[in-house]
Amino acid sequence: MKPTNIEPLKNQHYNIIKDEKLVSSFQWENLNESFTWHDTDKVNMAHECVDRHVDDGYGDKVAFHYIEGEIEQKITYNELKRETDHWATILKHHGVKKGDIVFVFLPKHPHCHIAILAAIKLGAIVGPLFEAFMEDAIRDRIQDCDGQFLVTSSDFINRVPLKSLPSLEKVFLTDEGSAEIQTVQIQKEKERLAANSAITQWVELDDGLNIHYTSGSTGHPKGIIHAHRVMIQQYITGRWVLDLQEEDVYWCTAHPGWVTGTVYGLFAPLLNRATIVIHGGRFNADSWYSTIEKAGVTVWYSAPTAFRMLKSQGFEALSNYNTTSLRHVLSVGEPLNPEVIYWGLDVFQLRIHDTWWMTETGAQLIVNLPTTAIKPGSMGKPIPGIAVEIVDDEGETLAIGEVGHLAIQAPWPSLMKEVWKNKEKFDSYFTTNGKWYLSGDLAIKDEDGYIFFQGRSDDMINSSGERIGPFEVESKLMVHKAVAEAGVIGKPDPVRGEIVKAFLVLAKGFQATDALLEEIRLFVRSELAAHAAPREIEVIEELPKTKISGKILRRELKARELEKIAITS
Ligand code: PRX
Repeated sequence: MKPTNIEPLKNQHYNIIKDEKLVSSFQWENLNESFTWHDTDKVNMAHECVDRHVDDGYGDKVAFHYIEGEIEQKITYNELKRETDHWATILKHHGVKKGDIVFVFLPKHPHCHIAILAAIKLGAIVGPLFEAFMEDAIRDRIQDCDGQFLVTSSDFINRVPLKSLPSLEKVFLTDEGSAEIQTVQIQKEKERLAANSAITQWVELDDGLNIHYTSGSTGHPKGIIHAHRVMIQQYITGRWVLDLQEEDVYWCTAHPGWVTGTVYGLFAPLLNRATIVIHGGRFNADSWYSTIEKAGVTVWYSAPTAFRMLKSQGFEALSNYNTTSLRHVLSVGEPLNPEVIYWGLDVFQLRIHDTWWMTETGAQLIVNLPTTAIKPGSMGKPIPGIAVEIVDDEGETLAIGEVGHLAIQAPWPSLMKEVWKNKEKFDSYFTTNGKWYLSGDLAIKDEDGYIFFQGRSDDMINSSGERIGPFEVESKLMVHKAVAEAGVIGKPDPVRGEIVKAFLVLAKGFQATDALLEEIRLFVRSELAAHAAPREIEVIEELPKTKISGKILRRELKARELEKIAITS
């Protein structure tokens, strides 16, 4: 029998135990004392992430440990301050100022993280872009918010459709090369311009910090803007949930183009003065296990799809490496199946702690703390300061055990500041009295307050923890000359959680050959992004639609698909 309650390891040194007093009389305001601005009134996320640790005497501590294949590089907090000052000096010299939007399109590499921090030092709003985005995904995002600046590399610039981005004033390249518009080579500029060590632009807690585009079930991705105040919640969740301590070596596997990669791959660990591992390259069991061994990773934050992929590689892959440095493992982004938790217990002798949050929430809200029992299948319980209810369509609280909308009492420090140029969309997240933020997720609460994820209330797809809007994929599919109509859904998948499945009605004169379907798939892959390309395509005669407005009934497509799976399994 597998346990239904997995008790925590007995350990008195968890941060949350040390902070017992703070927890027992929890108030968000009490956390202000943890930041330099509490005494100085000078606010900037990059200052709290980097410069303050140097000021406090920790400059020699390693901030980044970069590993890619045989390449390894360590960057101390001193060096990180110097680099971010230097890059910020260059950005400022070339026109970047407070409130500007600076996109960063780089692979998982310290340059990506330095560029993000440098832009923030100037009070700019930074927009990290996922490294696998193709032209359309990049165009949609930069165009939507009229981004003025872009930091990228000569390898990546080919995927930036500069001609259709008139708002872009300058491109900064991290290496040599040039673009079709004004280009600044950062490395060359470093030789010409001396770093200004007092470059930080002070801002207000409510000033814009970053923009992450995220998909819903309708329309193109929306730009979610966060403010510097997010640091309050990102710091405390890094301390209590990730449990980051002085000796820890921490690895978050997400790219900063996804919100997890920026918040828990960069801000939260740096706010906690951790050593961060940056792993370059794609997923591969050998290289992941070897990264844990090489860097001596102690705290590891990843996603169910990655754990499932590692699990499927078997013990064989793991047995070649020493992963005993691990002491705390966490997961995010999609439902964490109990089997994966049991696998973690088996192979690492550690619990995997599920956490729940969203791009819009800015930080973790529902978690499994290192100190509480885990009920496999549950996402855990709200962190101190957060109230969660399950509500019906009218916003009324439902009884224990009933499925309803997962709602969070608003506001909290890391709640999004705005949806770019879309007040209506922003307002749509809240009940009319403004009391509850509606996540779009469906869930159940049990008698102990544990929350169990039940699915989405809309058509959003979650594949490998990546949020995909069906509209975006359908729009791209329809551009292909062979496609007359398209309906896209998430089909359950044992490894990826869901895969993108497209139902197509072909244009007159086209036959559903394997070659054509593959061509259509590659078309989406090469113009939008690999993760958004349908893994399955089915050609049908007609799409189900609503009678009055003629909208595609994705729900019906999904119901048919689920029925098919039930019959065949
Ligand atoms: O449906 C939930 C799912 O991911 C959505 C948020 O996606 P995104 O904004 O891309 O942020 C992902 C990482 C913060 C949620 O509405 N989700 C997130 N965490 C979990 C989850 N579903 C089940 N279990 C989770 N732990």
